[in-house]
Amino acid sequence: MTEQFIAAIDQGTTSSRCMIFDQEGRIHSVGQREHTQIFPRPGWVEHDAQEIWTNVEHVVREALEQGEISPAQLAAVGITNQRETTVLWDAATGAPVHNAIVWQDTRTDQLVRELGGGVGQERFRERCGLPLATYFSGPKIRWLLDEKPELRQRCERGEVLFGTMDTWLIWKLTGEHVTDVTNASRTMLMNLHTLDWDDSILEALDIPRAMLPTIRSSAEVYGEATGFLAGVPVASALGDQHAALFGQTCFDPGDVKGTYGTGTFLVLNTGTEPVMSETGLLTTLGYKIGDQPAIYALEGAIAVTGSLVQWLRDNLELIETAPEIETLARTVDDNGGCYVVPAFSGLFAPHWRSDARGVMAGLTGYVTKAHIARAVLEATAWQTREVVDAMNTDSGIPLTSLRVDGGMTADNLLMQILADVLNIEVVRPMVAETTCLGAAYAAGLAVGYWPSIESLRANWHKAAEWEPQMAPDKREAEYHNWQKAVQRTLGWVE
Ligand code: G3P
Repeated sequence: MTEQFIAAIDQGTTSSRCMIFDQEGRIHSVGQREHTQIFPRPGWVEHDAQEIWTNVEHVVREALEQGEISPAQLAAVGITNQRETTVLWDAATGAPVHNAIVWQDTRTDQLVRELGGGVGQERFRERCGLPLATYFSGPKIRWLLDEKPELRQRCERGEVLFGTMDTWLIWKLTGEHVTDVTNASRTMLMNLHTLDWDDSILEALDIPRAMLPTIRSSAEVYGEATGFLAGVPVASALGDQHAALFGQTCFDPGDVKGTYGTGTFLVLNTGTEPVMSETGLLTTLGYKIGDQPAIYALEGAIAVTGSLVQWLRDNLELIETAPEIETLARTVDDNGGCYVVPAFSGLFAPHWRSDARGVMAGLTGYVTKAHIARAVLEATAWQTREVVDAMNTDSGIPLTSLRVDGGMTADNLLMQILADVLNIEVVRPMVAETTCLGAAYAAGLAVGYWPSIESLRANWHKAAEWEPQMAPDKREAEYHNWQKAVQRTLGWVE
């Protein structure tokens, strides 16, 4: 029999990728293409969902061609995606009715304050696990319905549909209007306890249920693809951070992974019960495999980490390529007193302040671009430290090791700074593409390509680790300076 593979589509914030995996969880072939970032106004970020679909078709074909395999050799295809990004489309024509509003977009700032009413940010937390913030899909849908009132009745009749990117892609591939529990948990509209849309939140946000997809598990056959992948089962959907948790085989309560991409997202497996955070973390779904119990998680979401390096490259032009930041930062021993807090979309965990905007603090005539490069890398580490402190408080068990993945983990200096700042070991696995791997694992489990989640643990191998080297008094002095810089970002937007 010809060899069978699993394909994973990762529809991310800056690009779409397809990775094809073999039975040992090794990457067989890859396709990747970037899409346009649309910035209509300061703080607004949009994507063209049609362009994304075209790119997805392209990257799947590219991965098949590169790997010299036919669609018939795919046992299943899985989906993972940027979360919260909101698409509305016409069910009859398949055409989006507006550009997708991206998770980083802050246009709903005023709206979320109004929605808080007398209660404020915590109004829906007990039901959905999230604070009211511009980040999540619910307020974005409401903004679109307010902006285009002619859509409302069509949404009520199910003629215009909502989806996050998983839903949009599954609908394009199979015609089914579904999402999974992890993606649904980022809309603000799903009840964490029932795993169904929450009528009281829908009423408060004035969002019609008829436009929402059916919520399914993260690993089951949603339908068979038509078109160029005809007959291939579409068998998993997980938000990218949840997929990374699964791909890192963080299957036990207490396991944590950190994914370093456009933003950085730390996710802690908390087992079969949702844990409400006291410290600004999000309560979210970890994953749900078929009819097995749902696994919950606590997440620390940091909006800007890798995208700060891109900003240094594209807007300030201090470096020509992203990896050059490491070379430049290594030319100095420290930050020269400079701290960069990249509150471009406000501050996410643990602060949740949409009124914050970025600062560069501590500047003197001594500071060079190399110090700024170093401060940019340190910003990722200090933001991680704030989240790890919050996780330690919520769980009561201090973290002893962090499993990392994502593009930024190729930066060895950043990994050392991270170990120094967290004062724990940082570990990178052989397959650092854990987002795609997690989606592939879930799809493979759904069709019996892998027998059980236990069988996946054997595929995880350590590739590199970093131990803390920084003196404790230096660490605490630097953290104190970082916290002072954070204070200076708050209240910028009045
Ligand atoms: O919540 C947003 C997150 O899912 C985006 O991830 O990797 O596409 O930046 P990424």
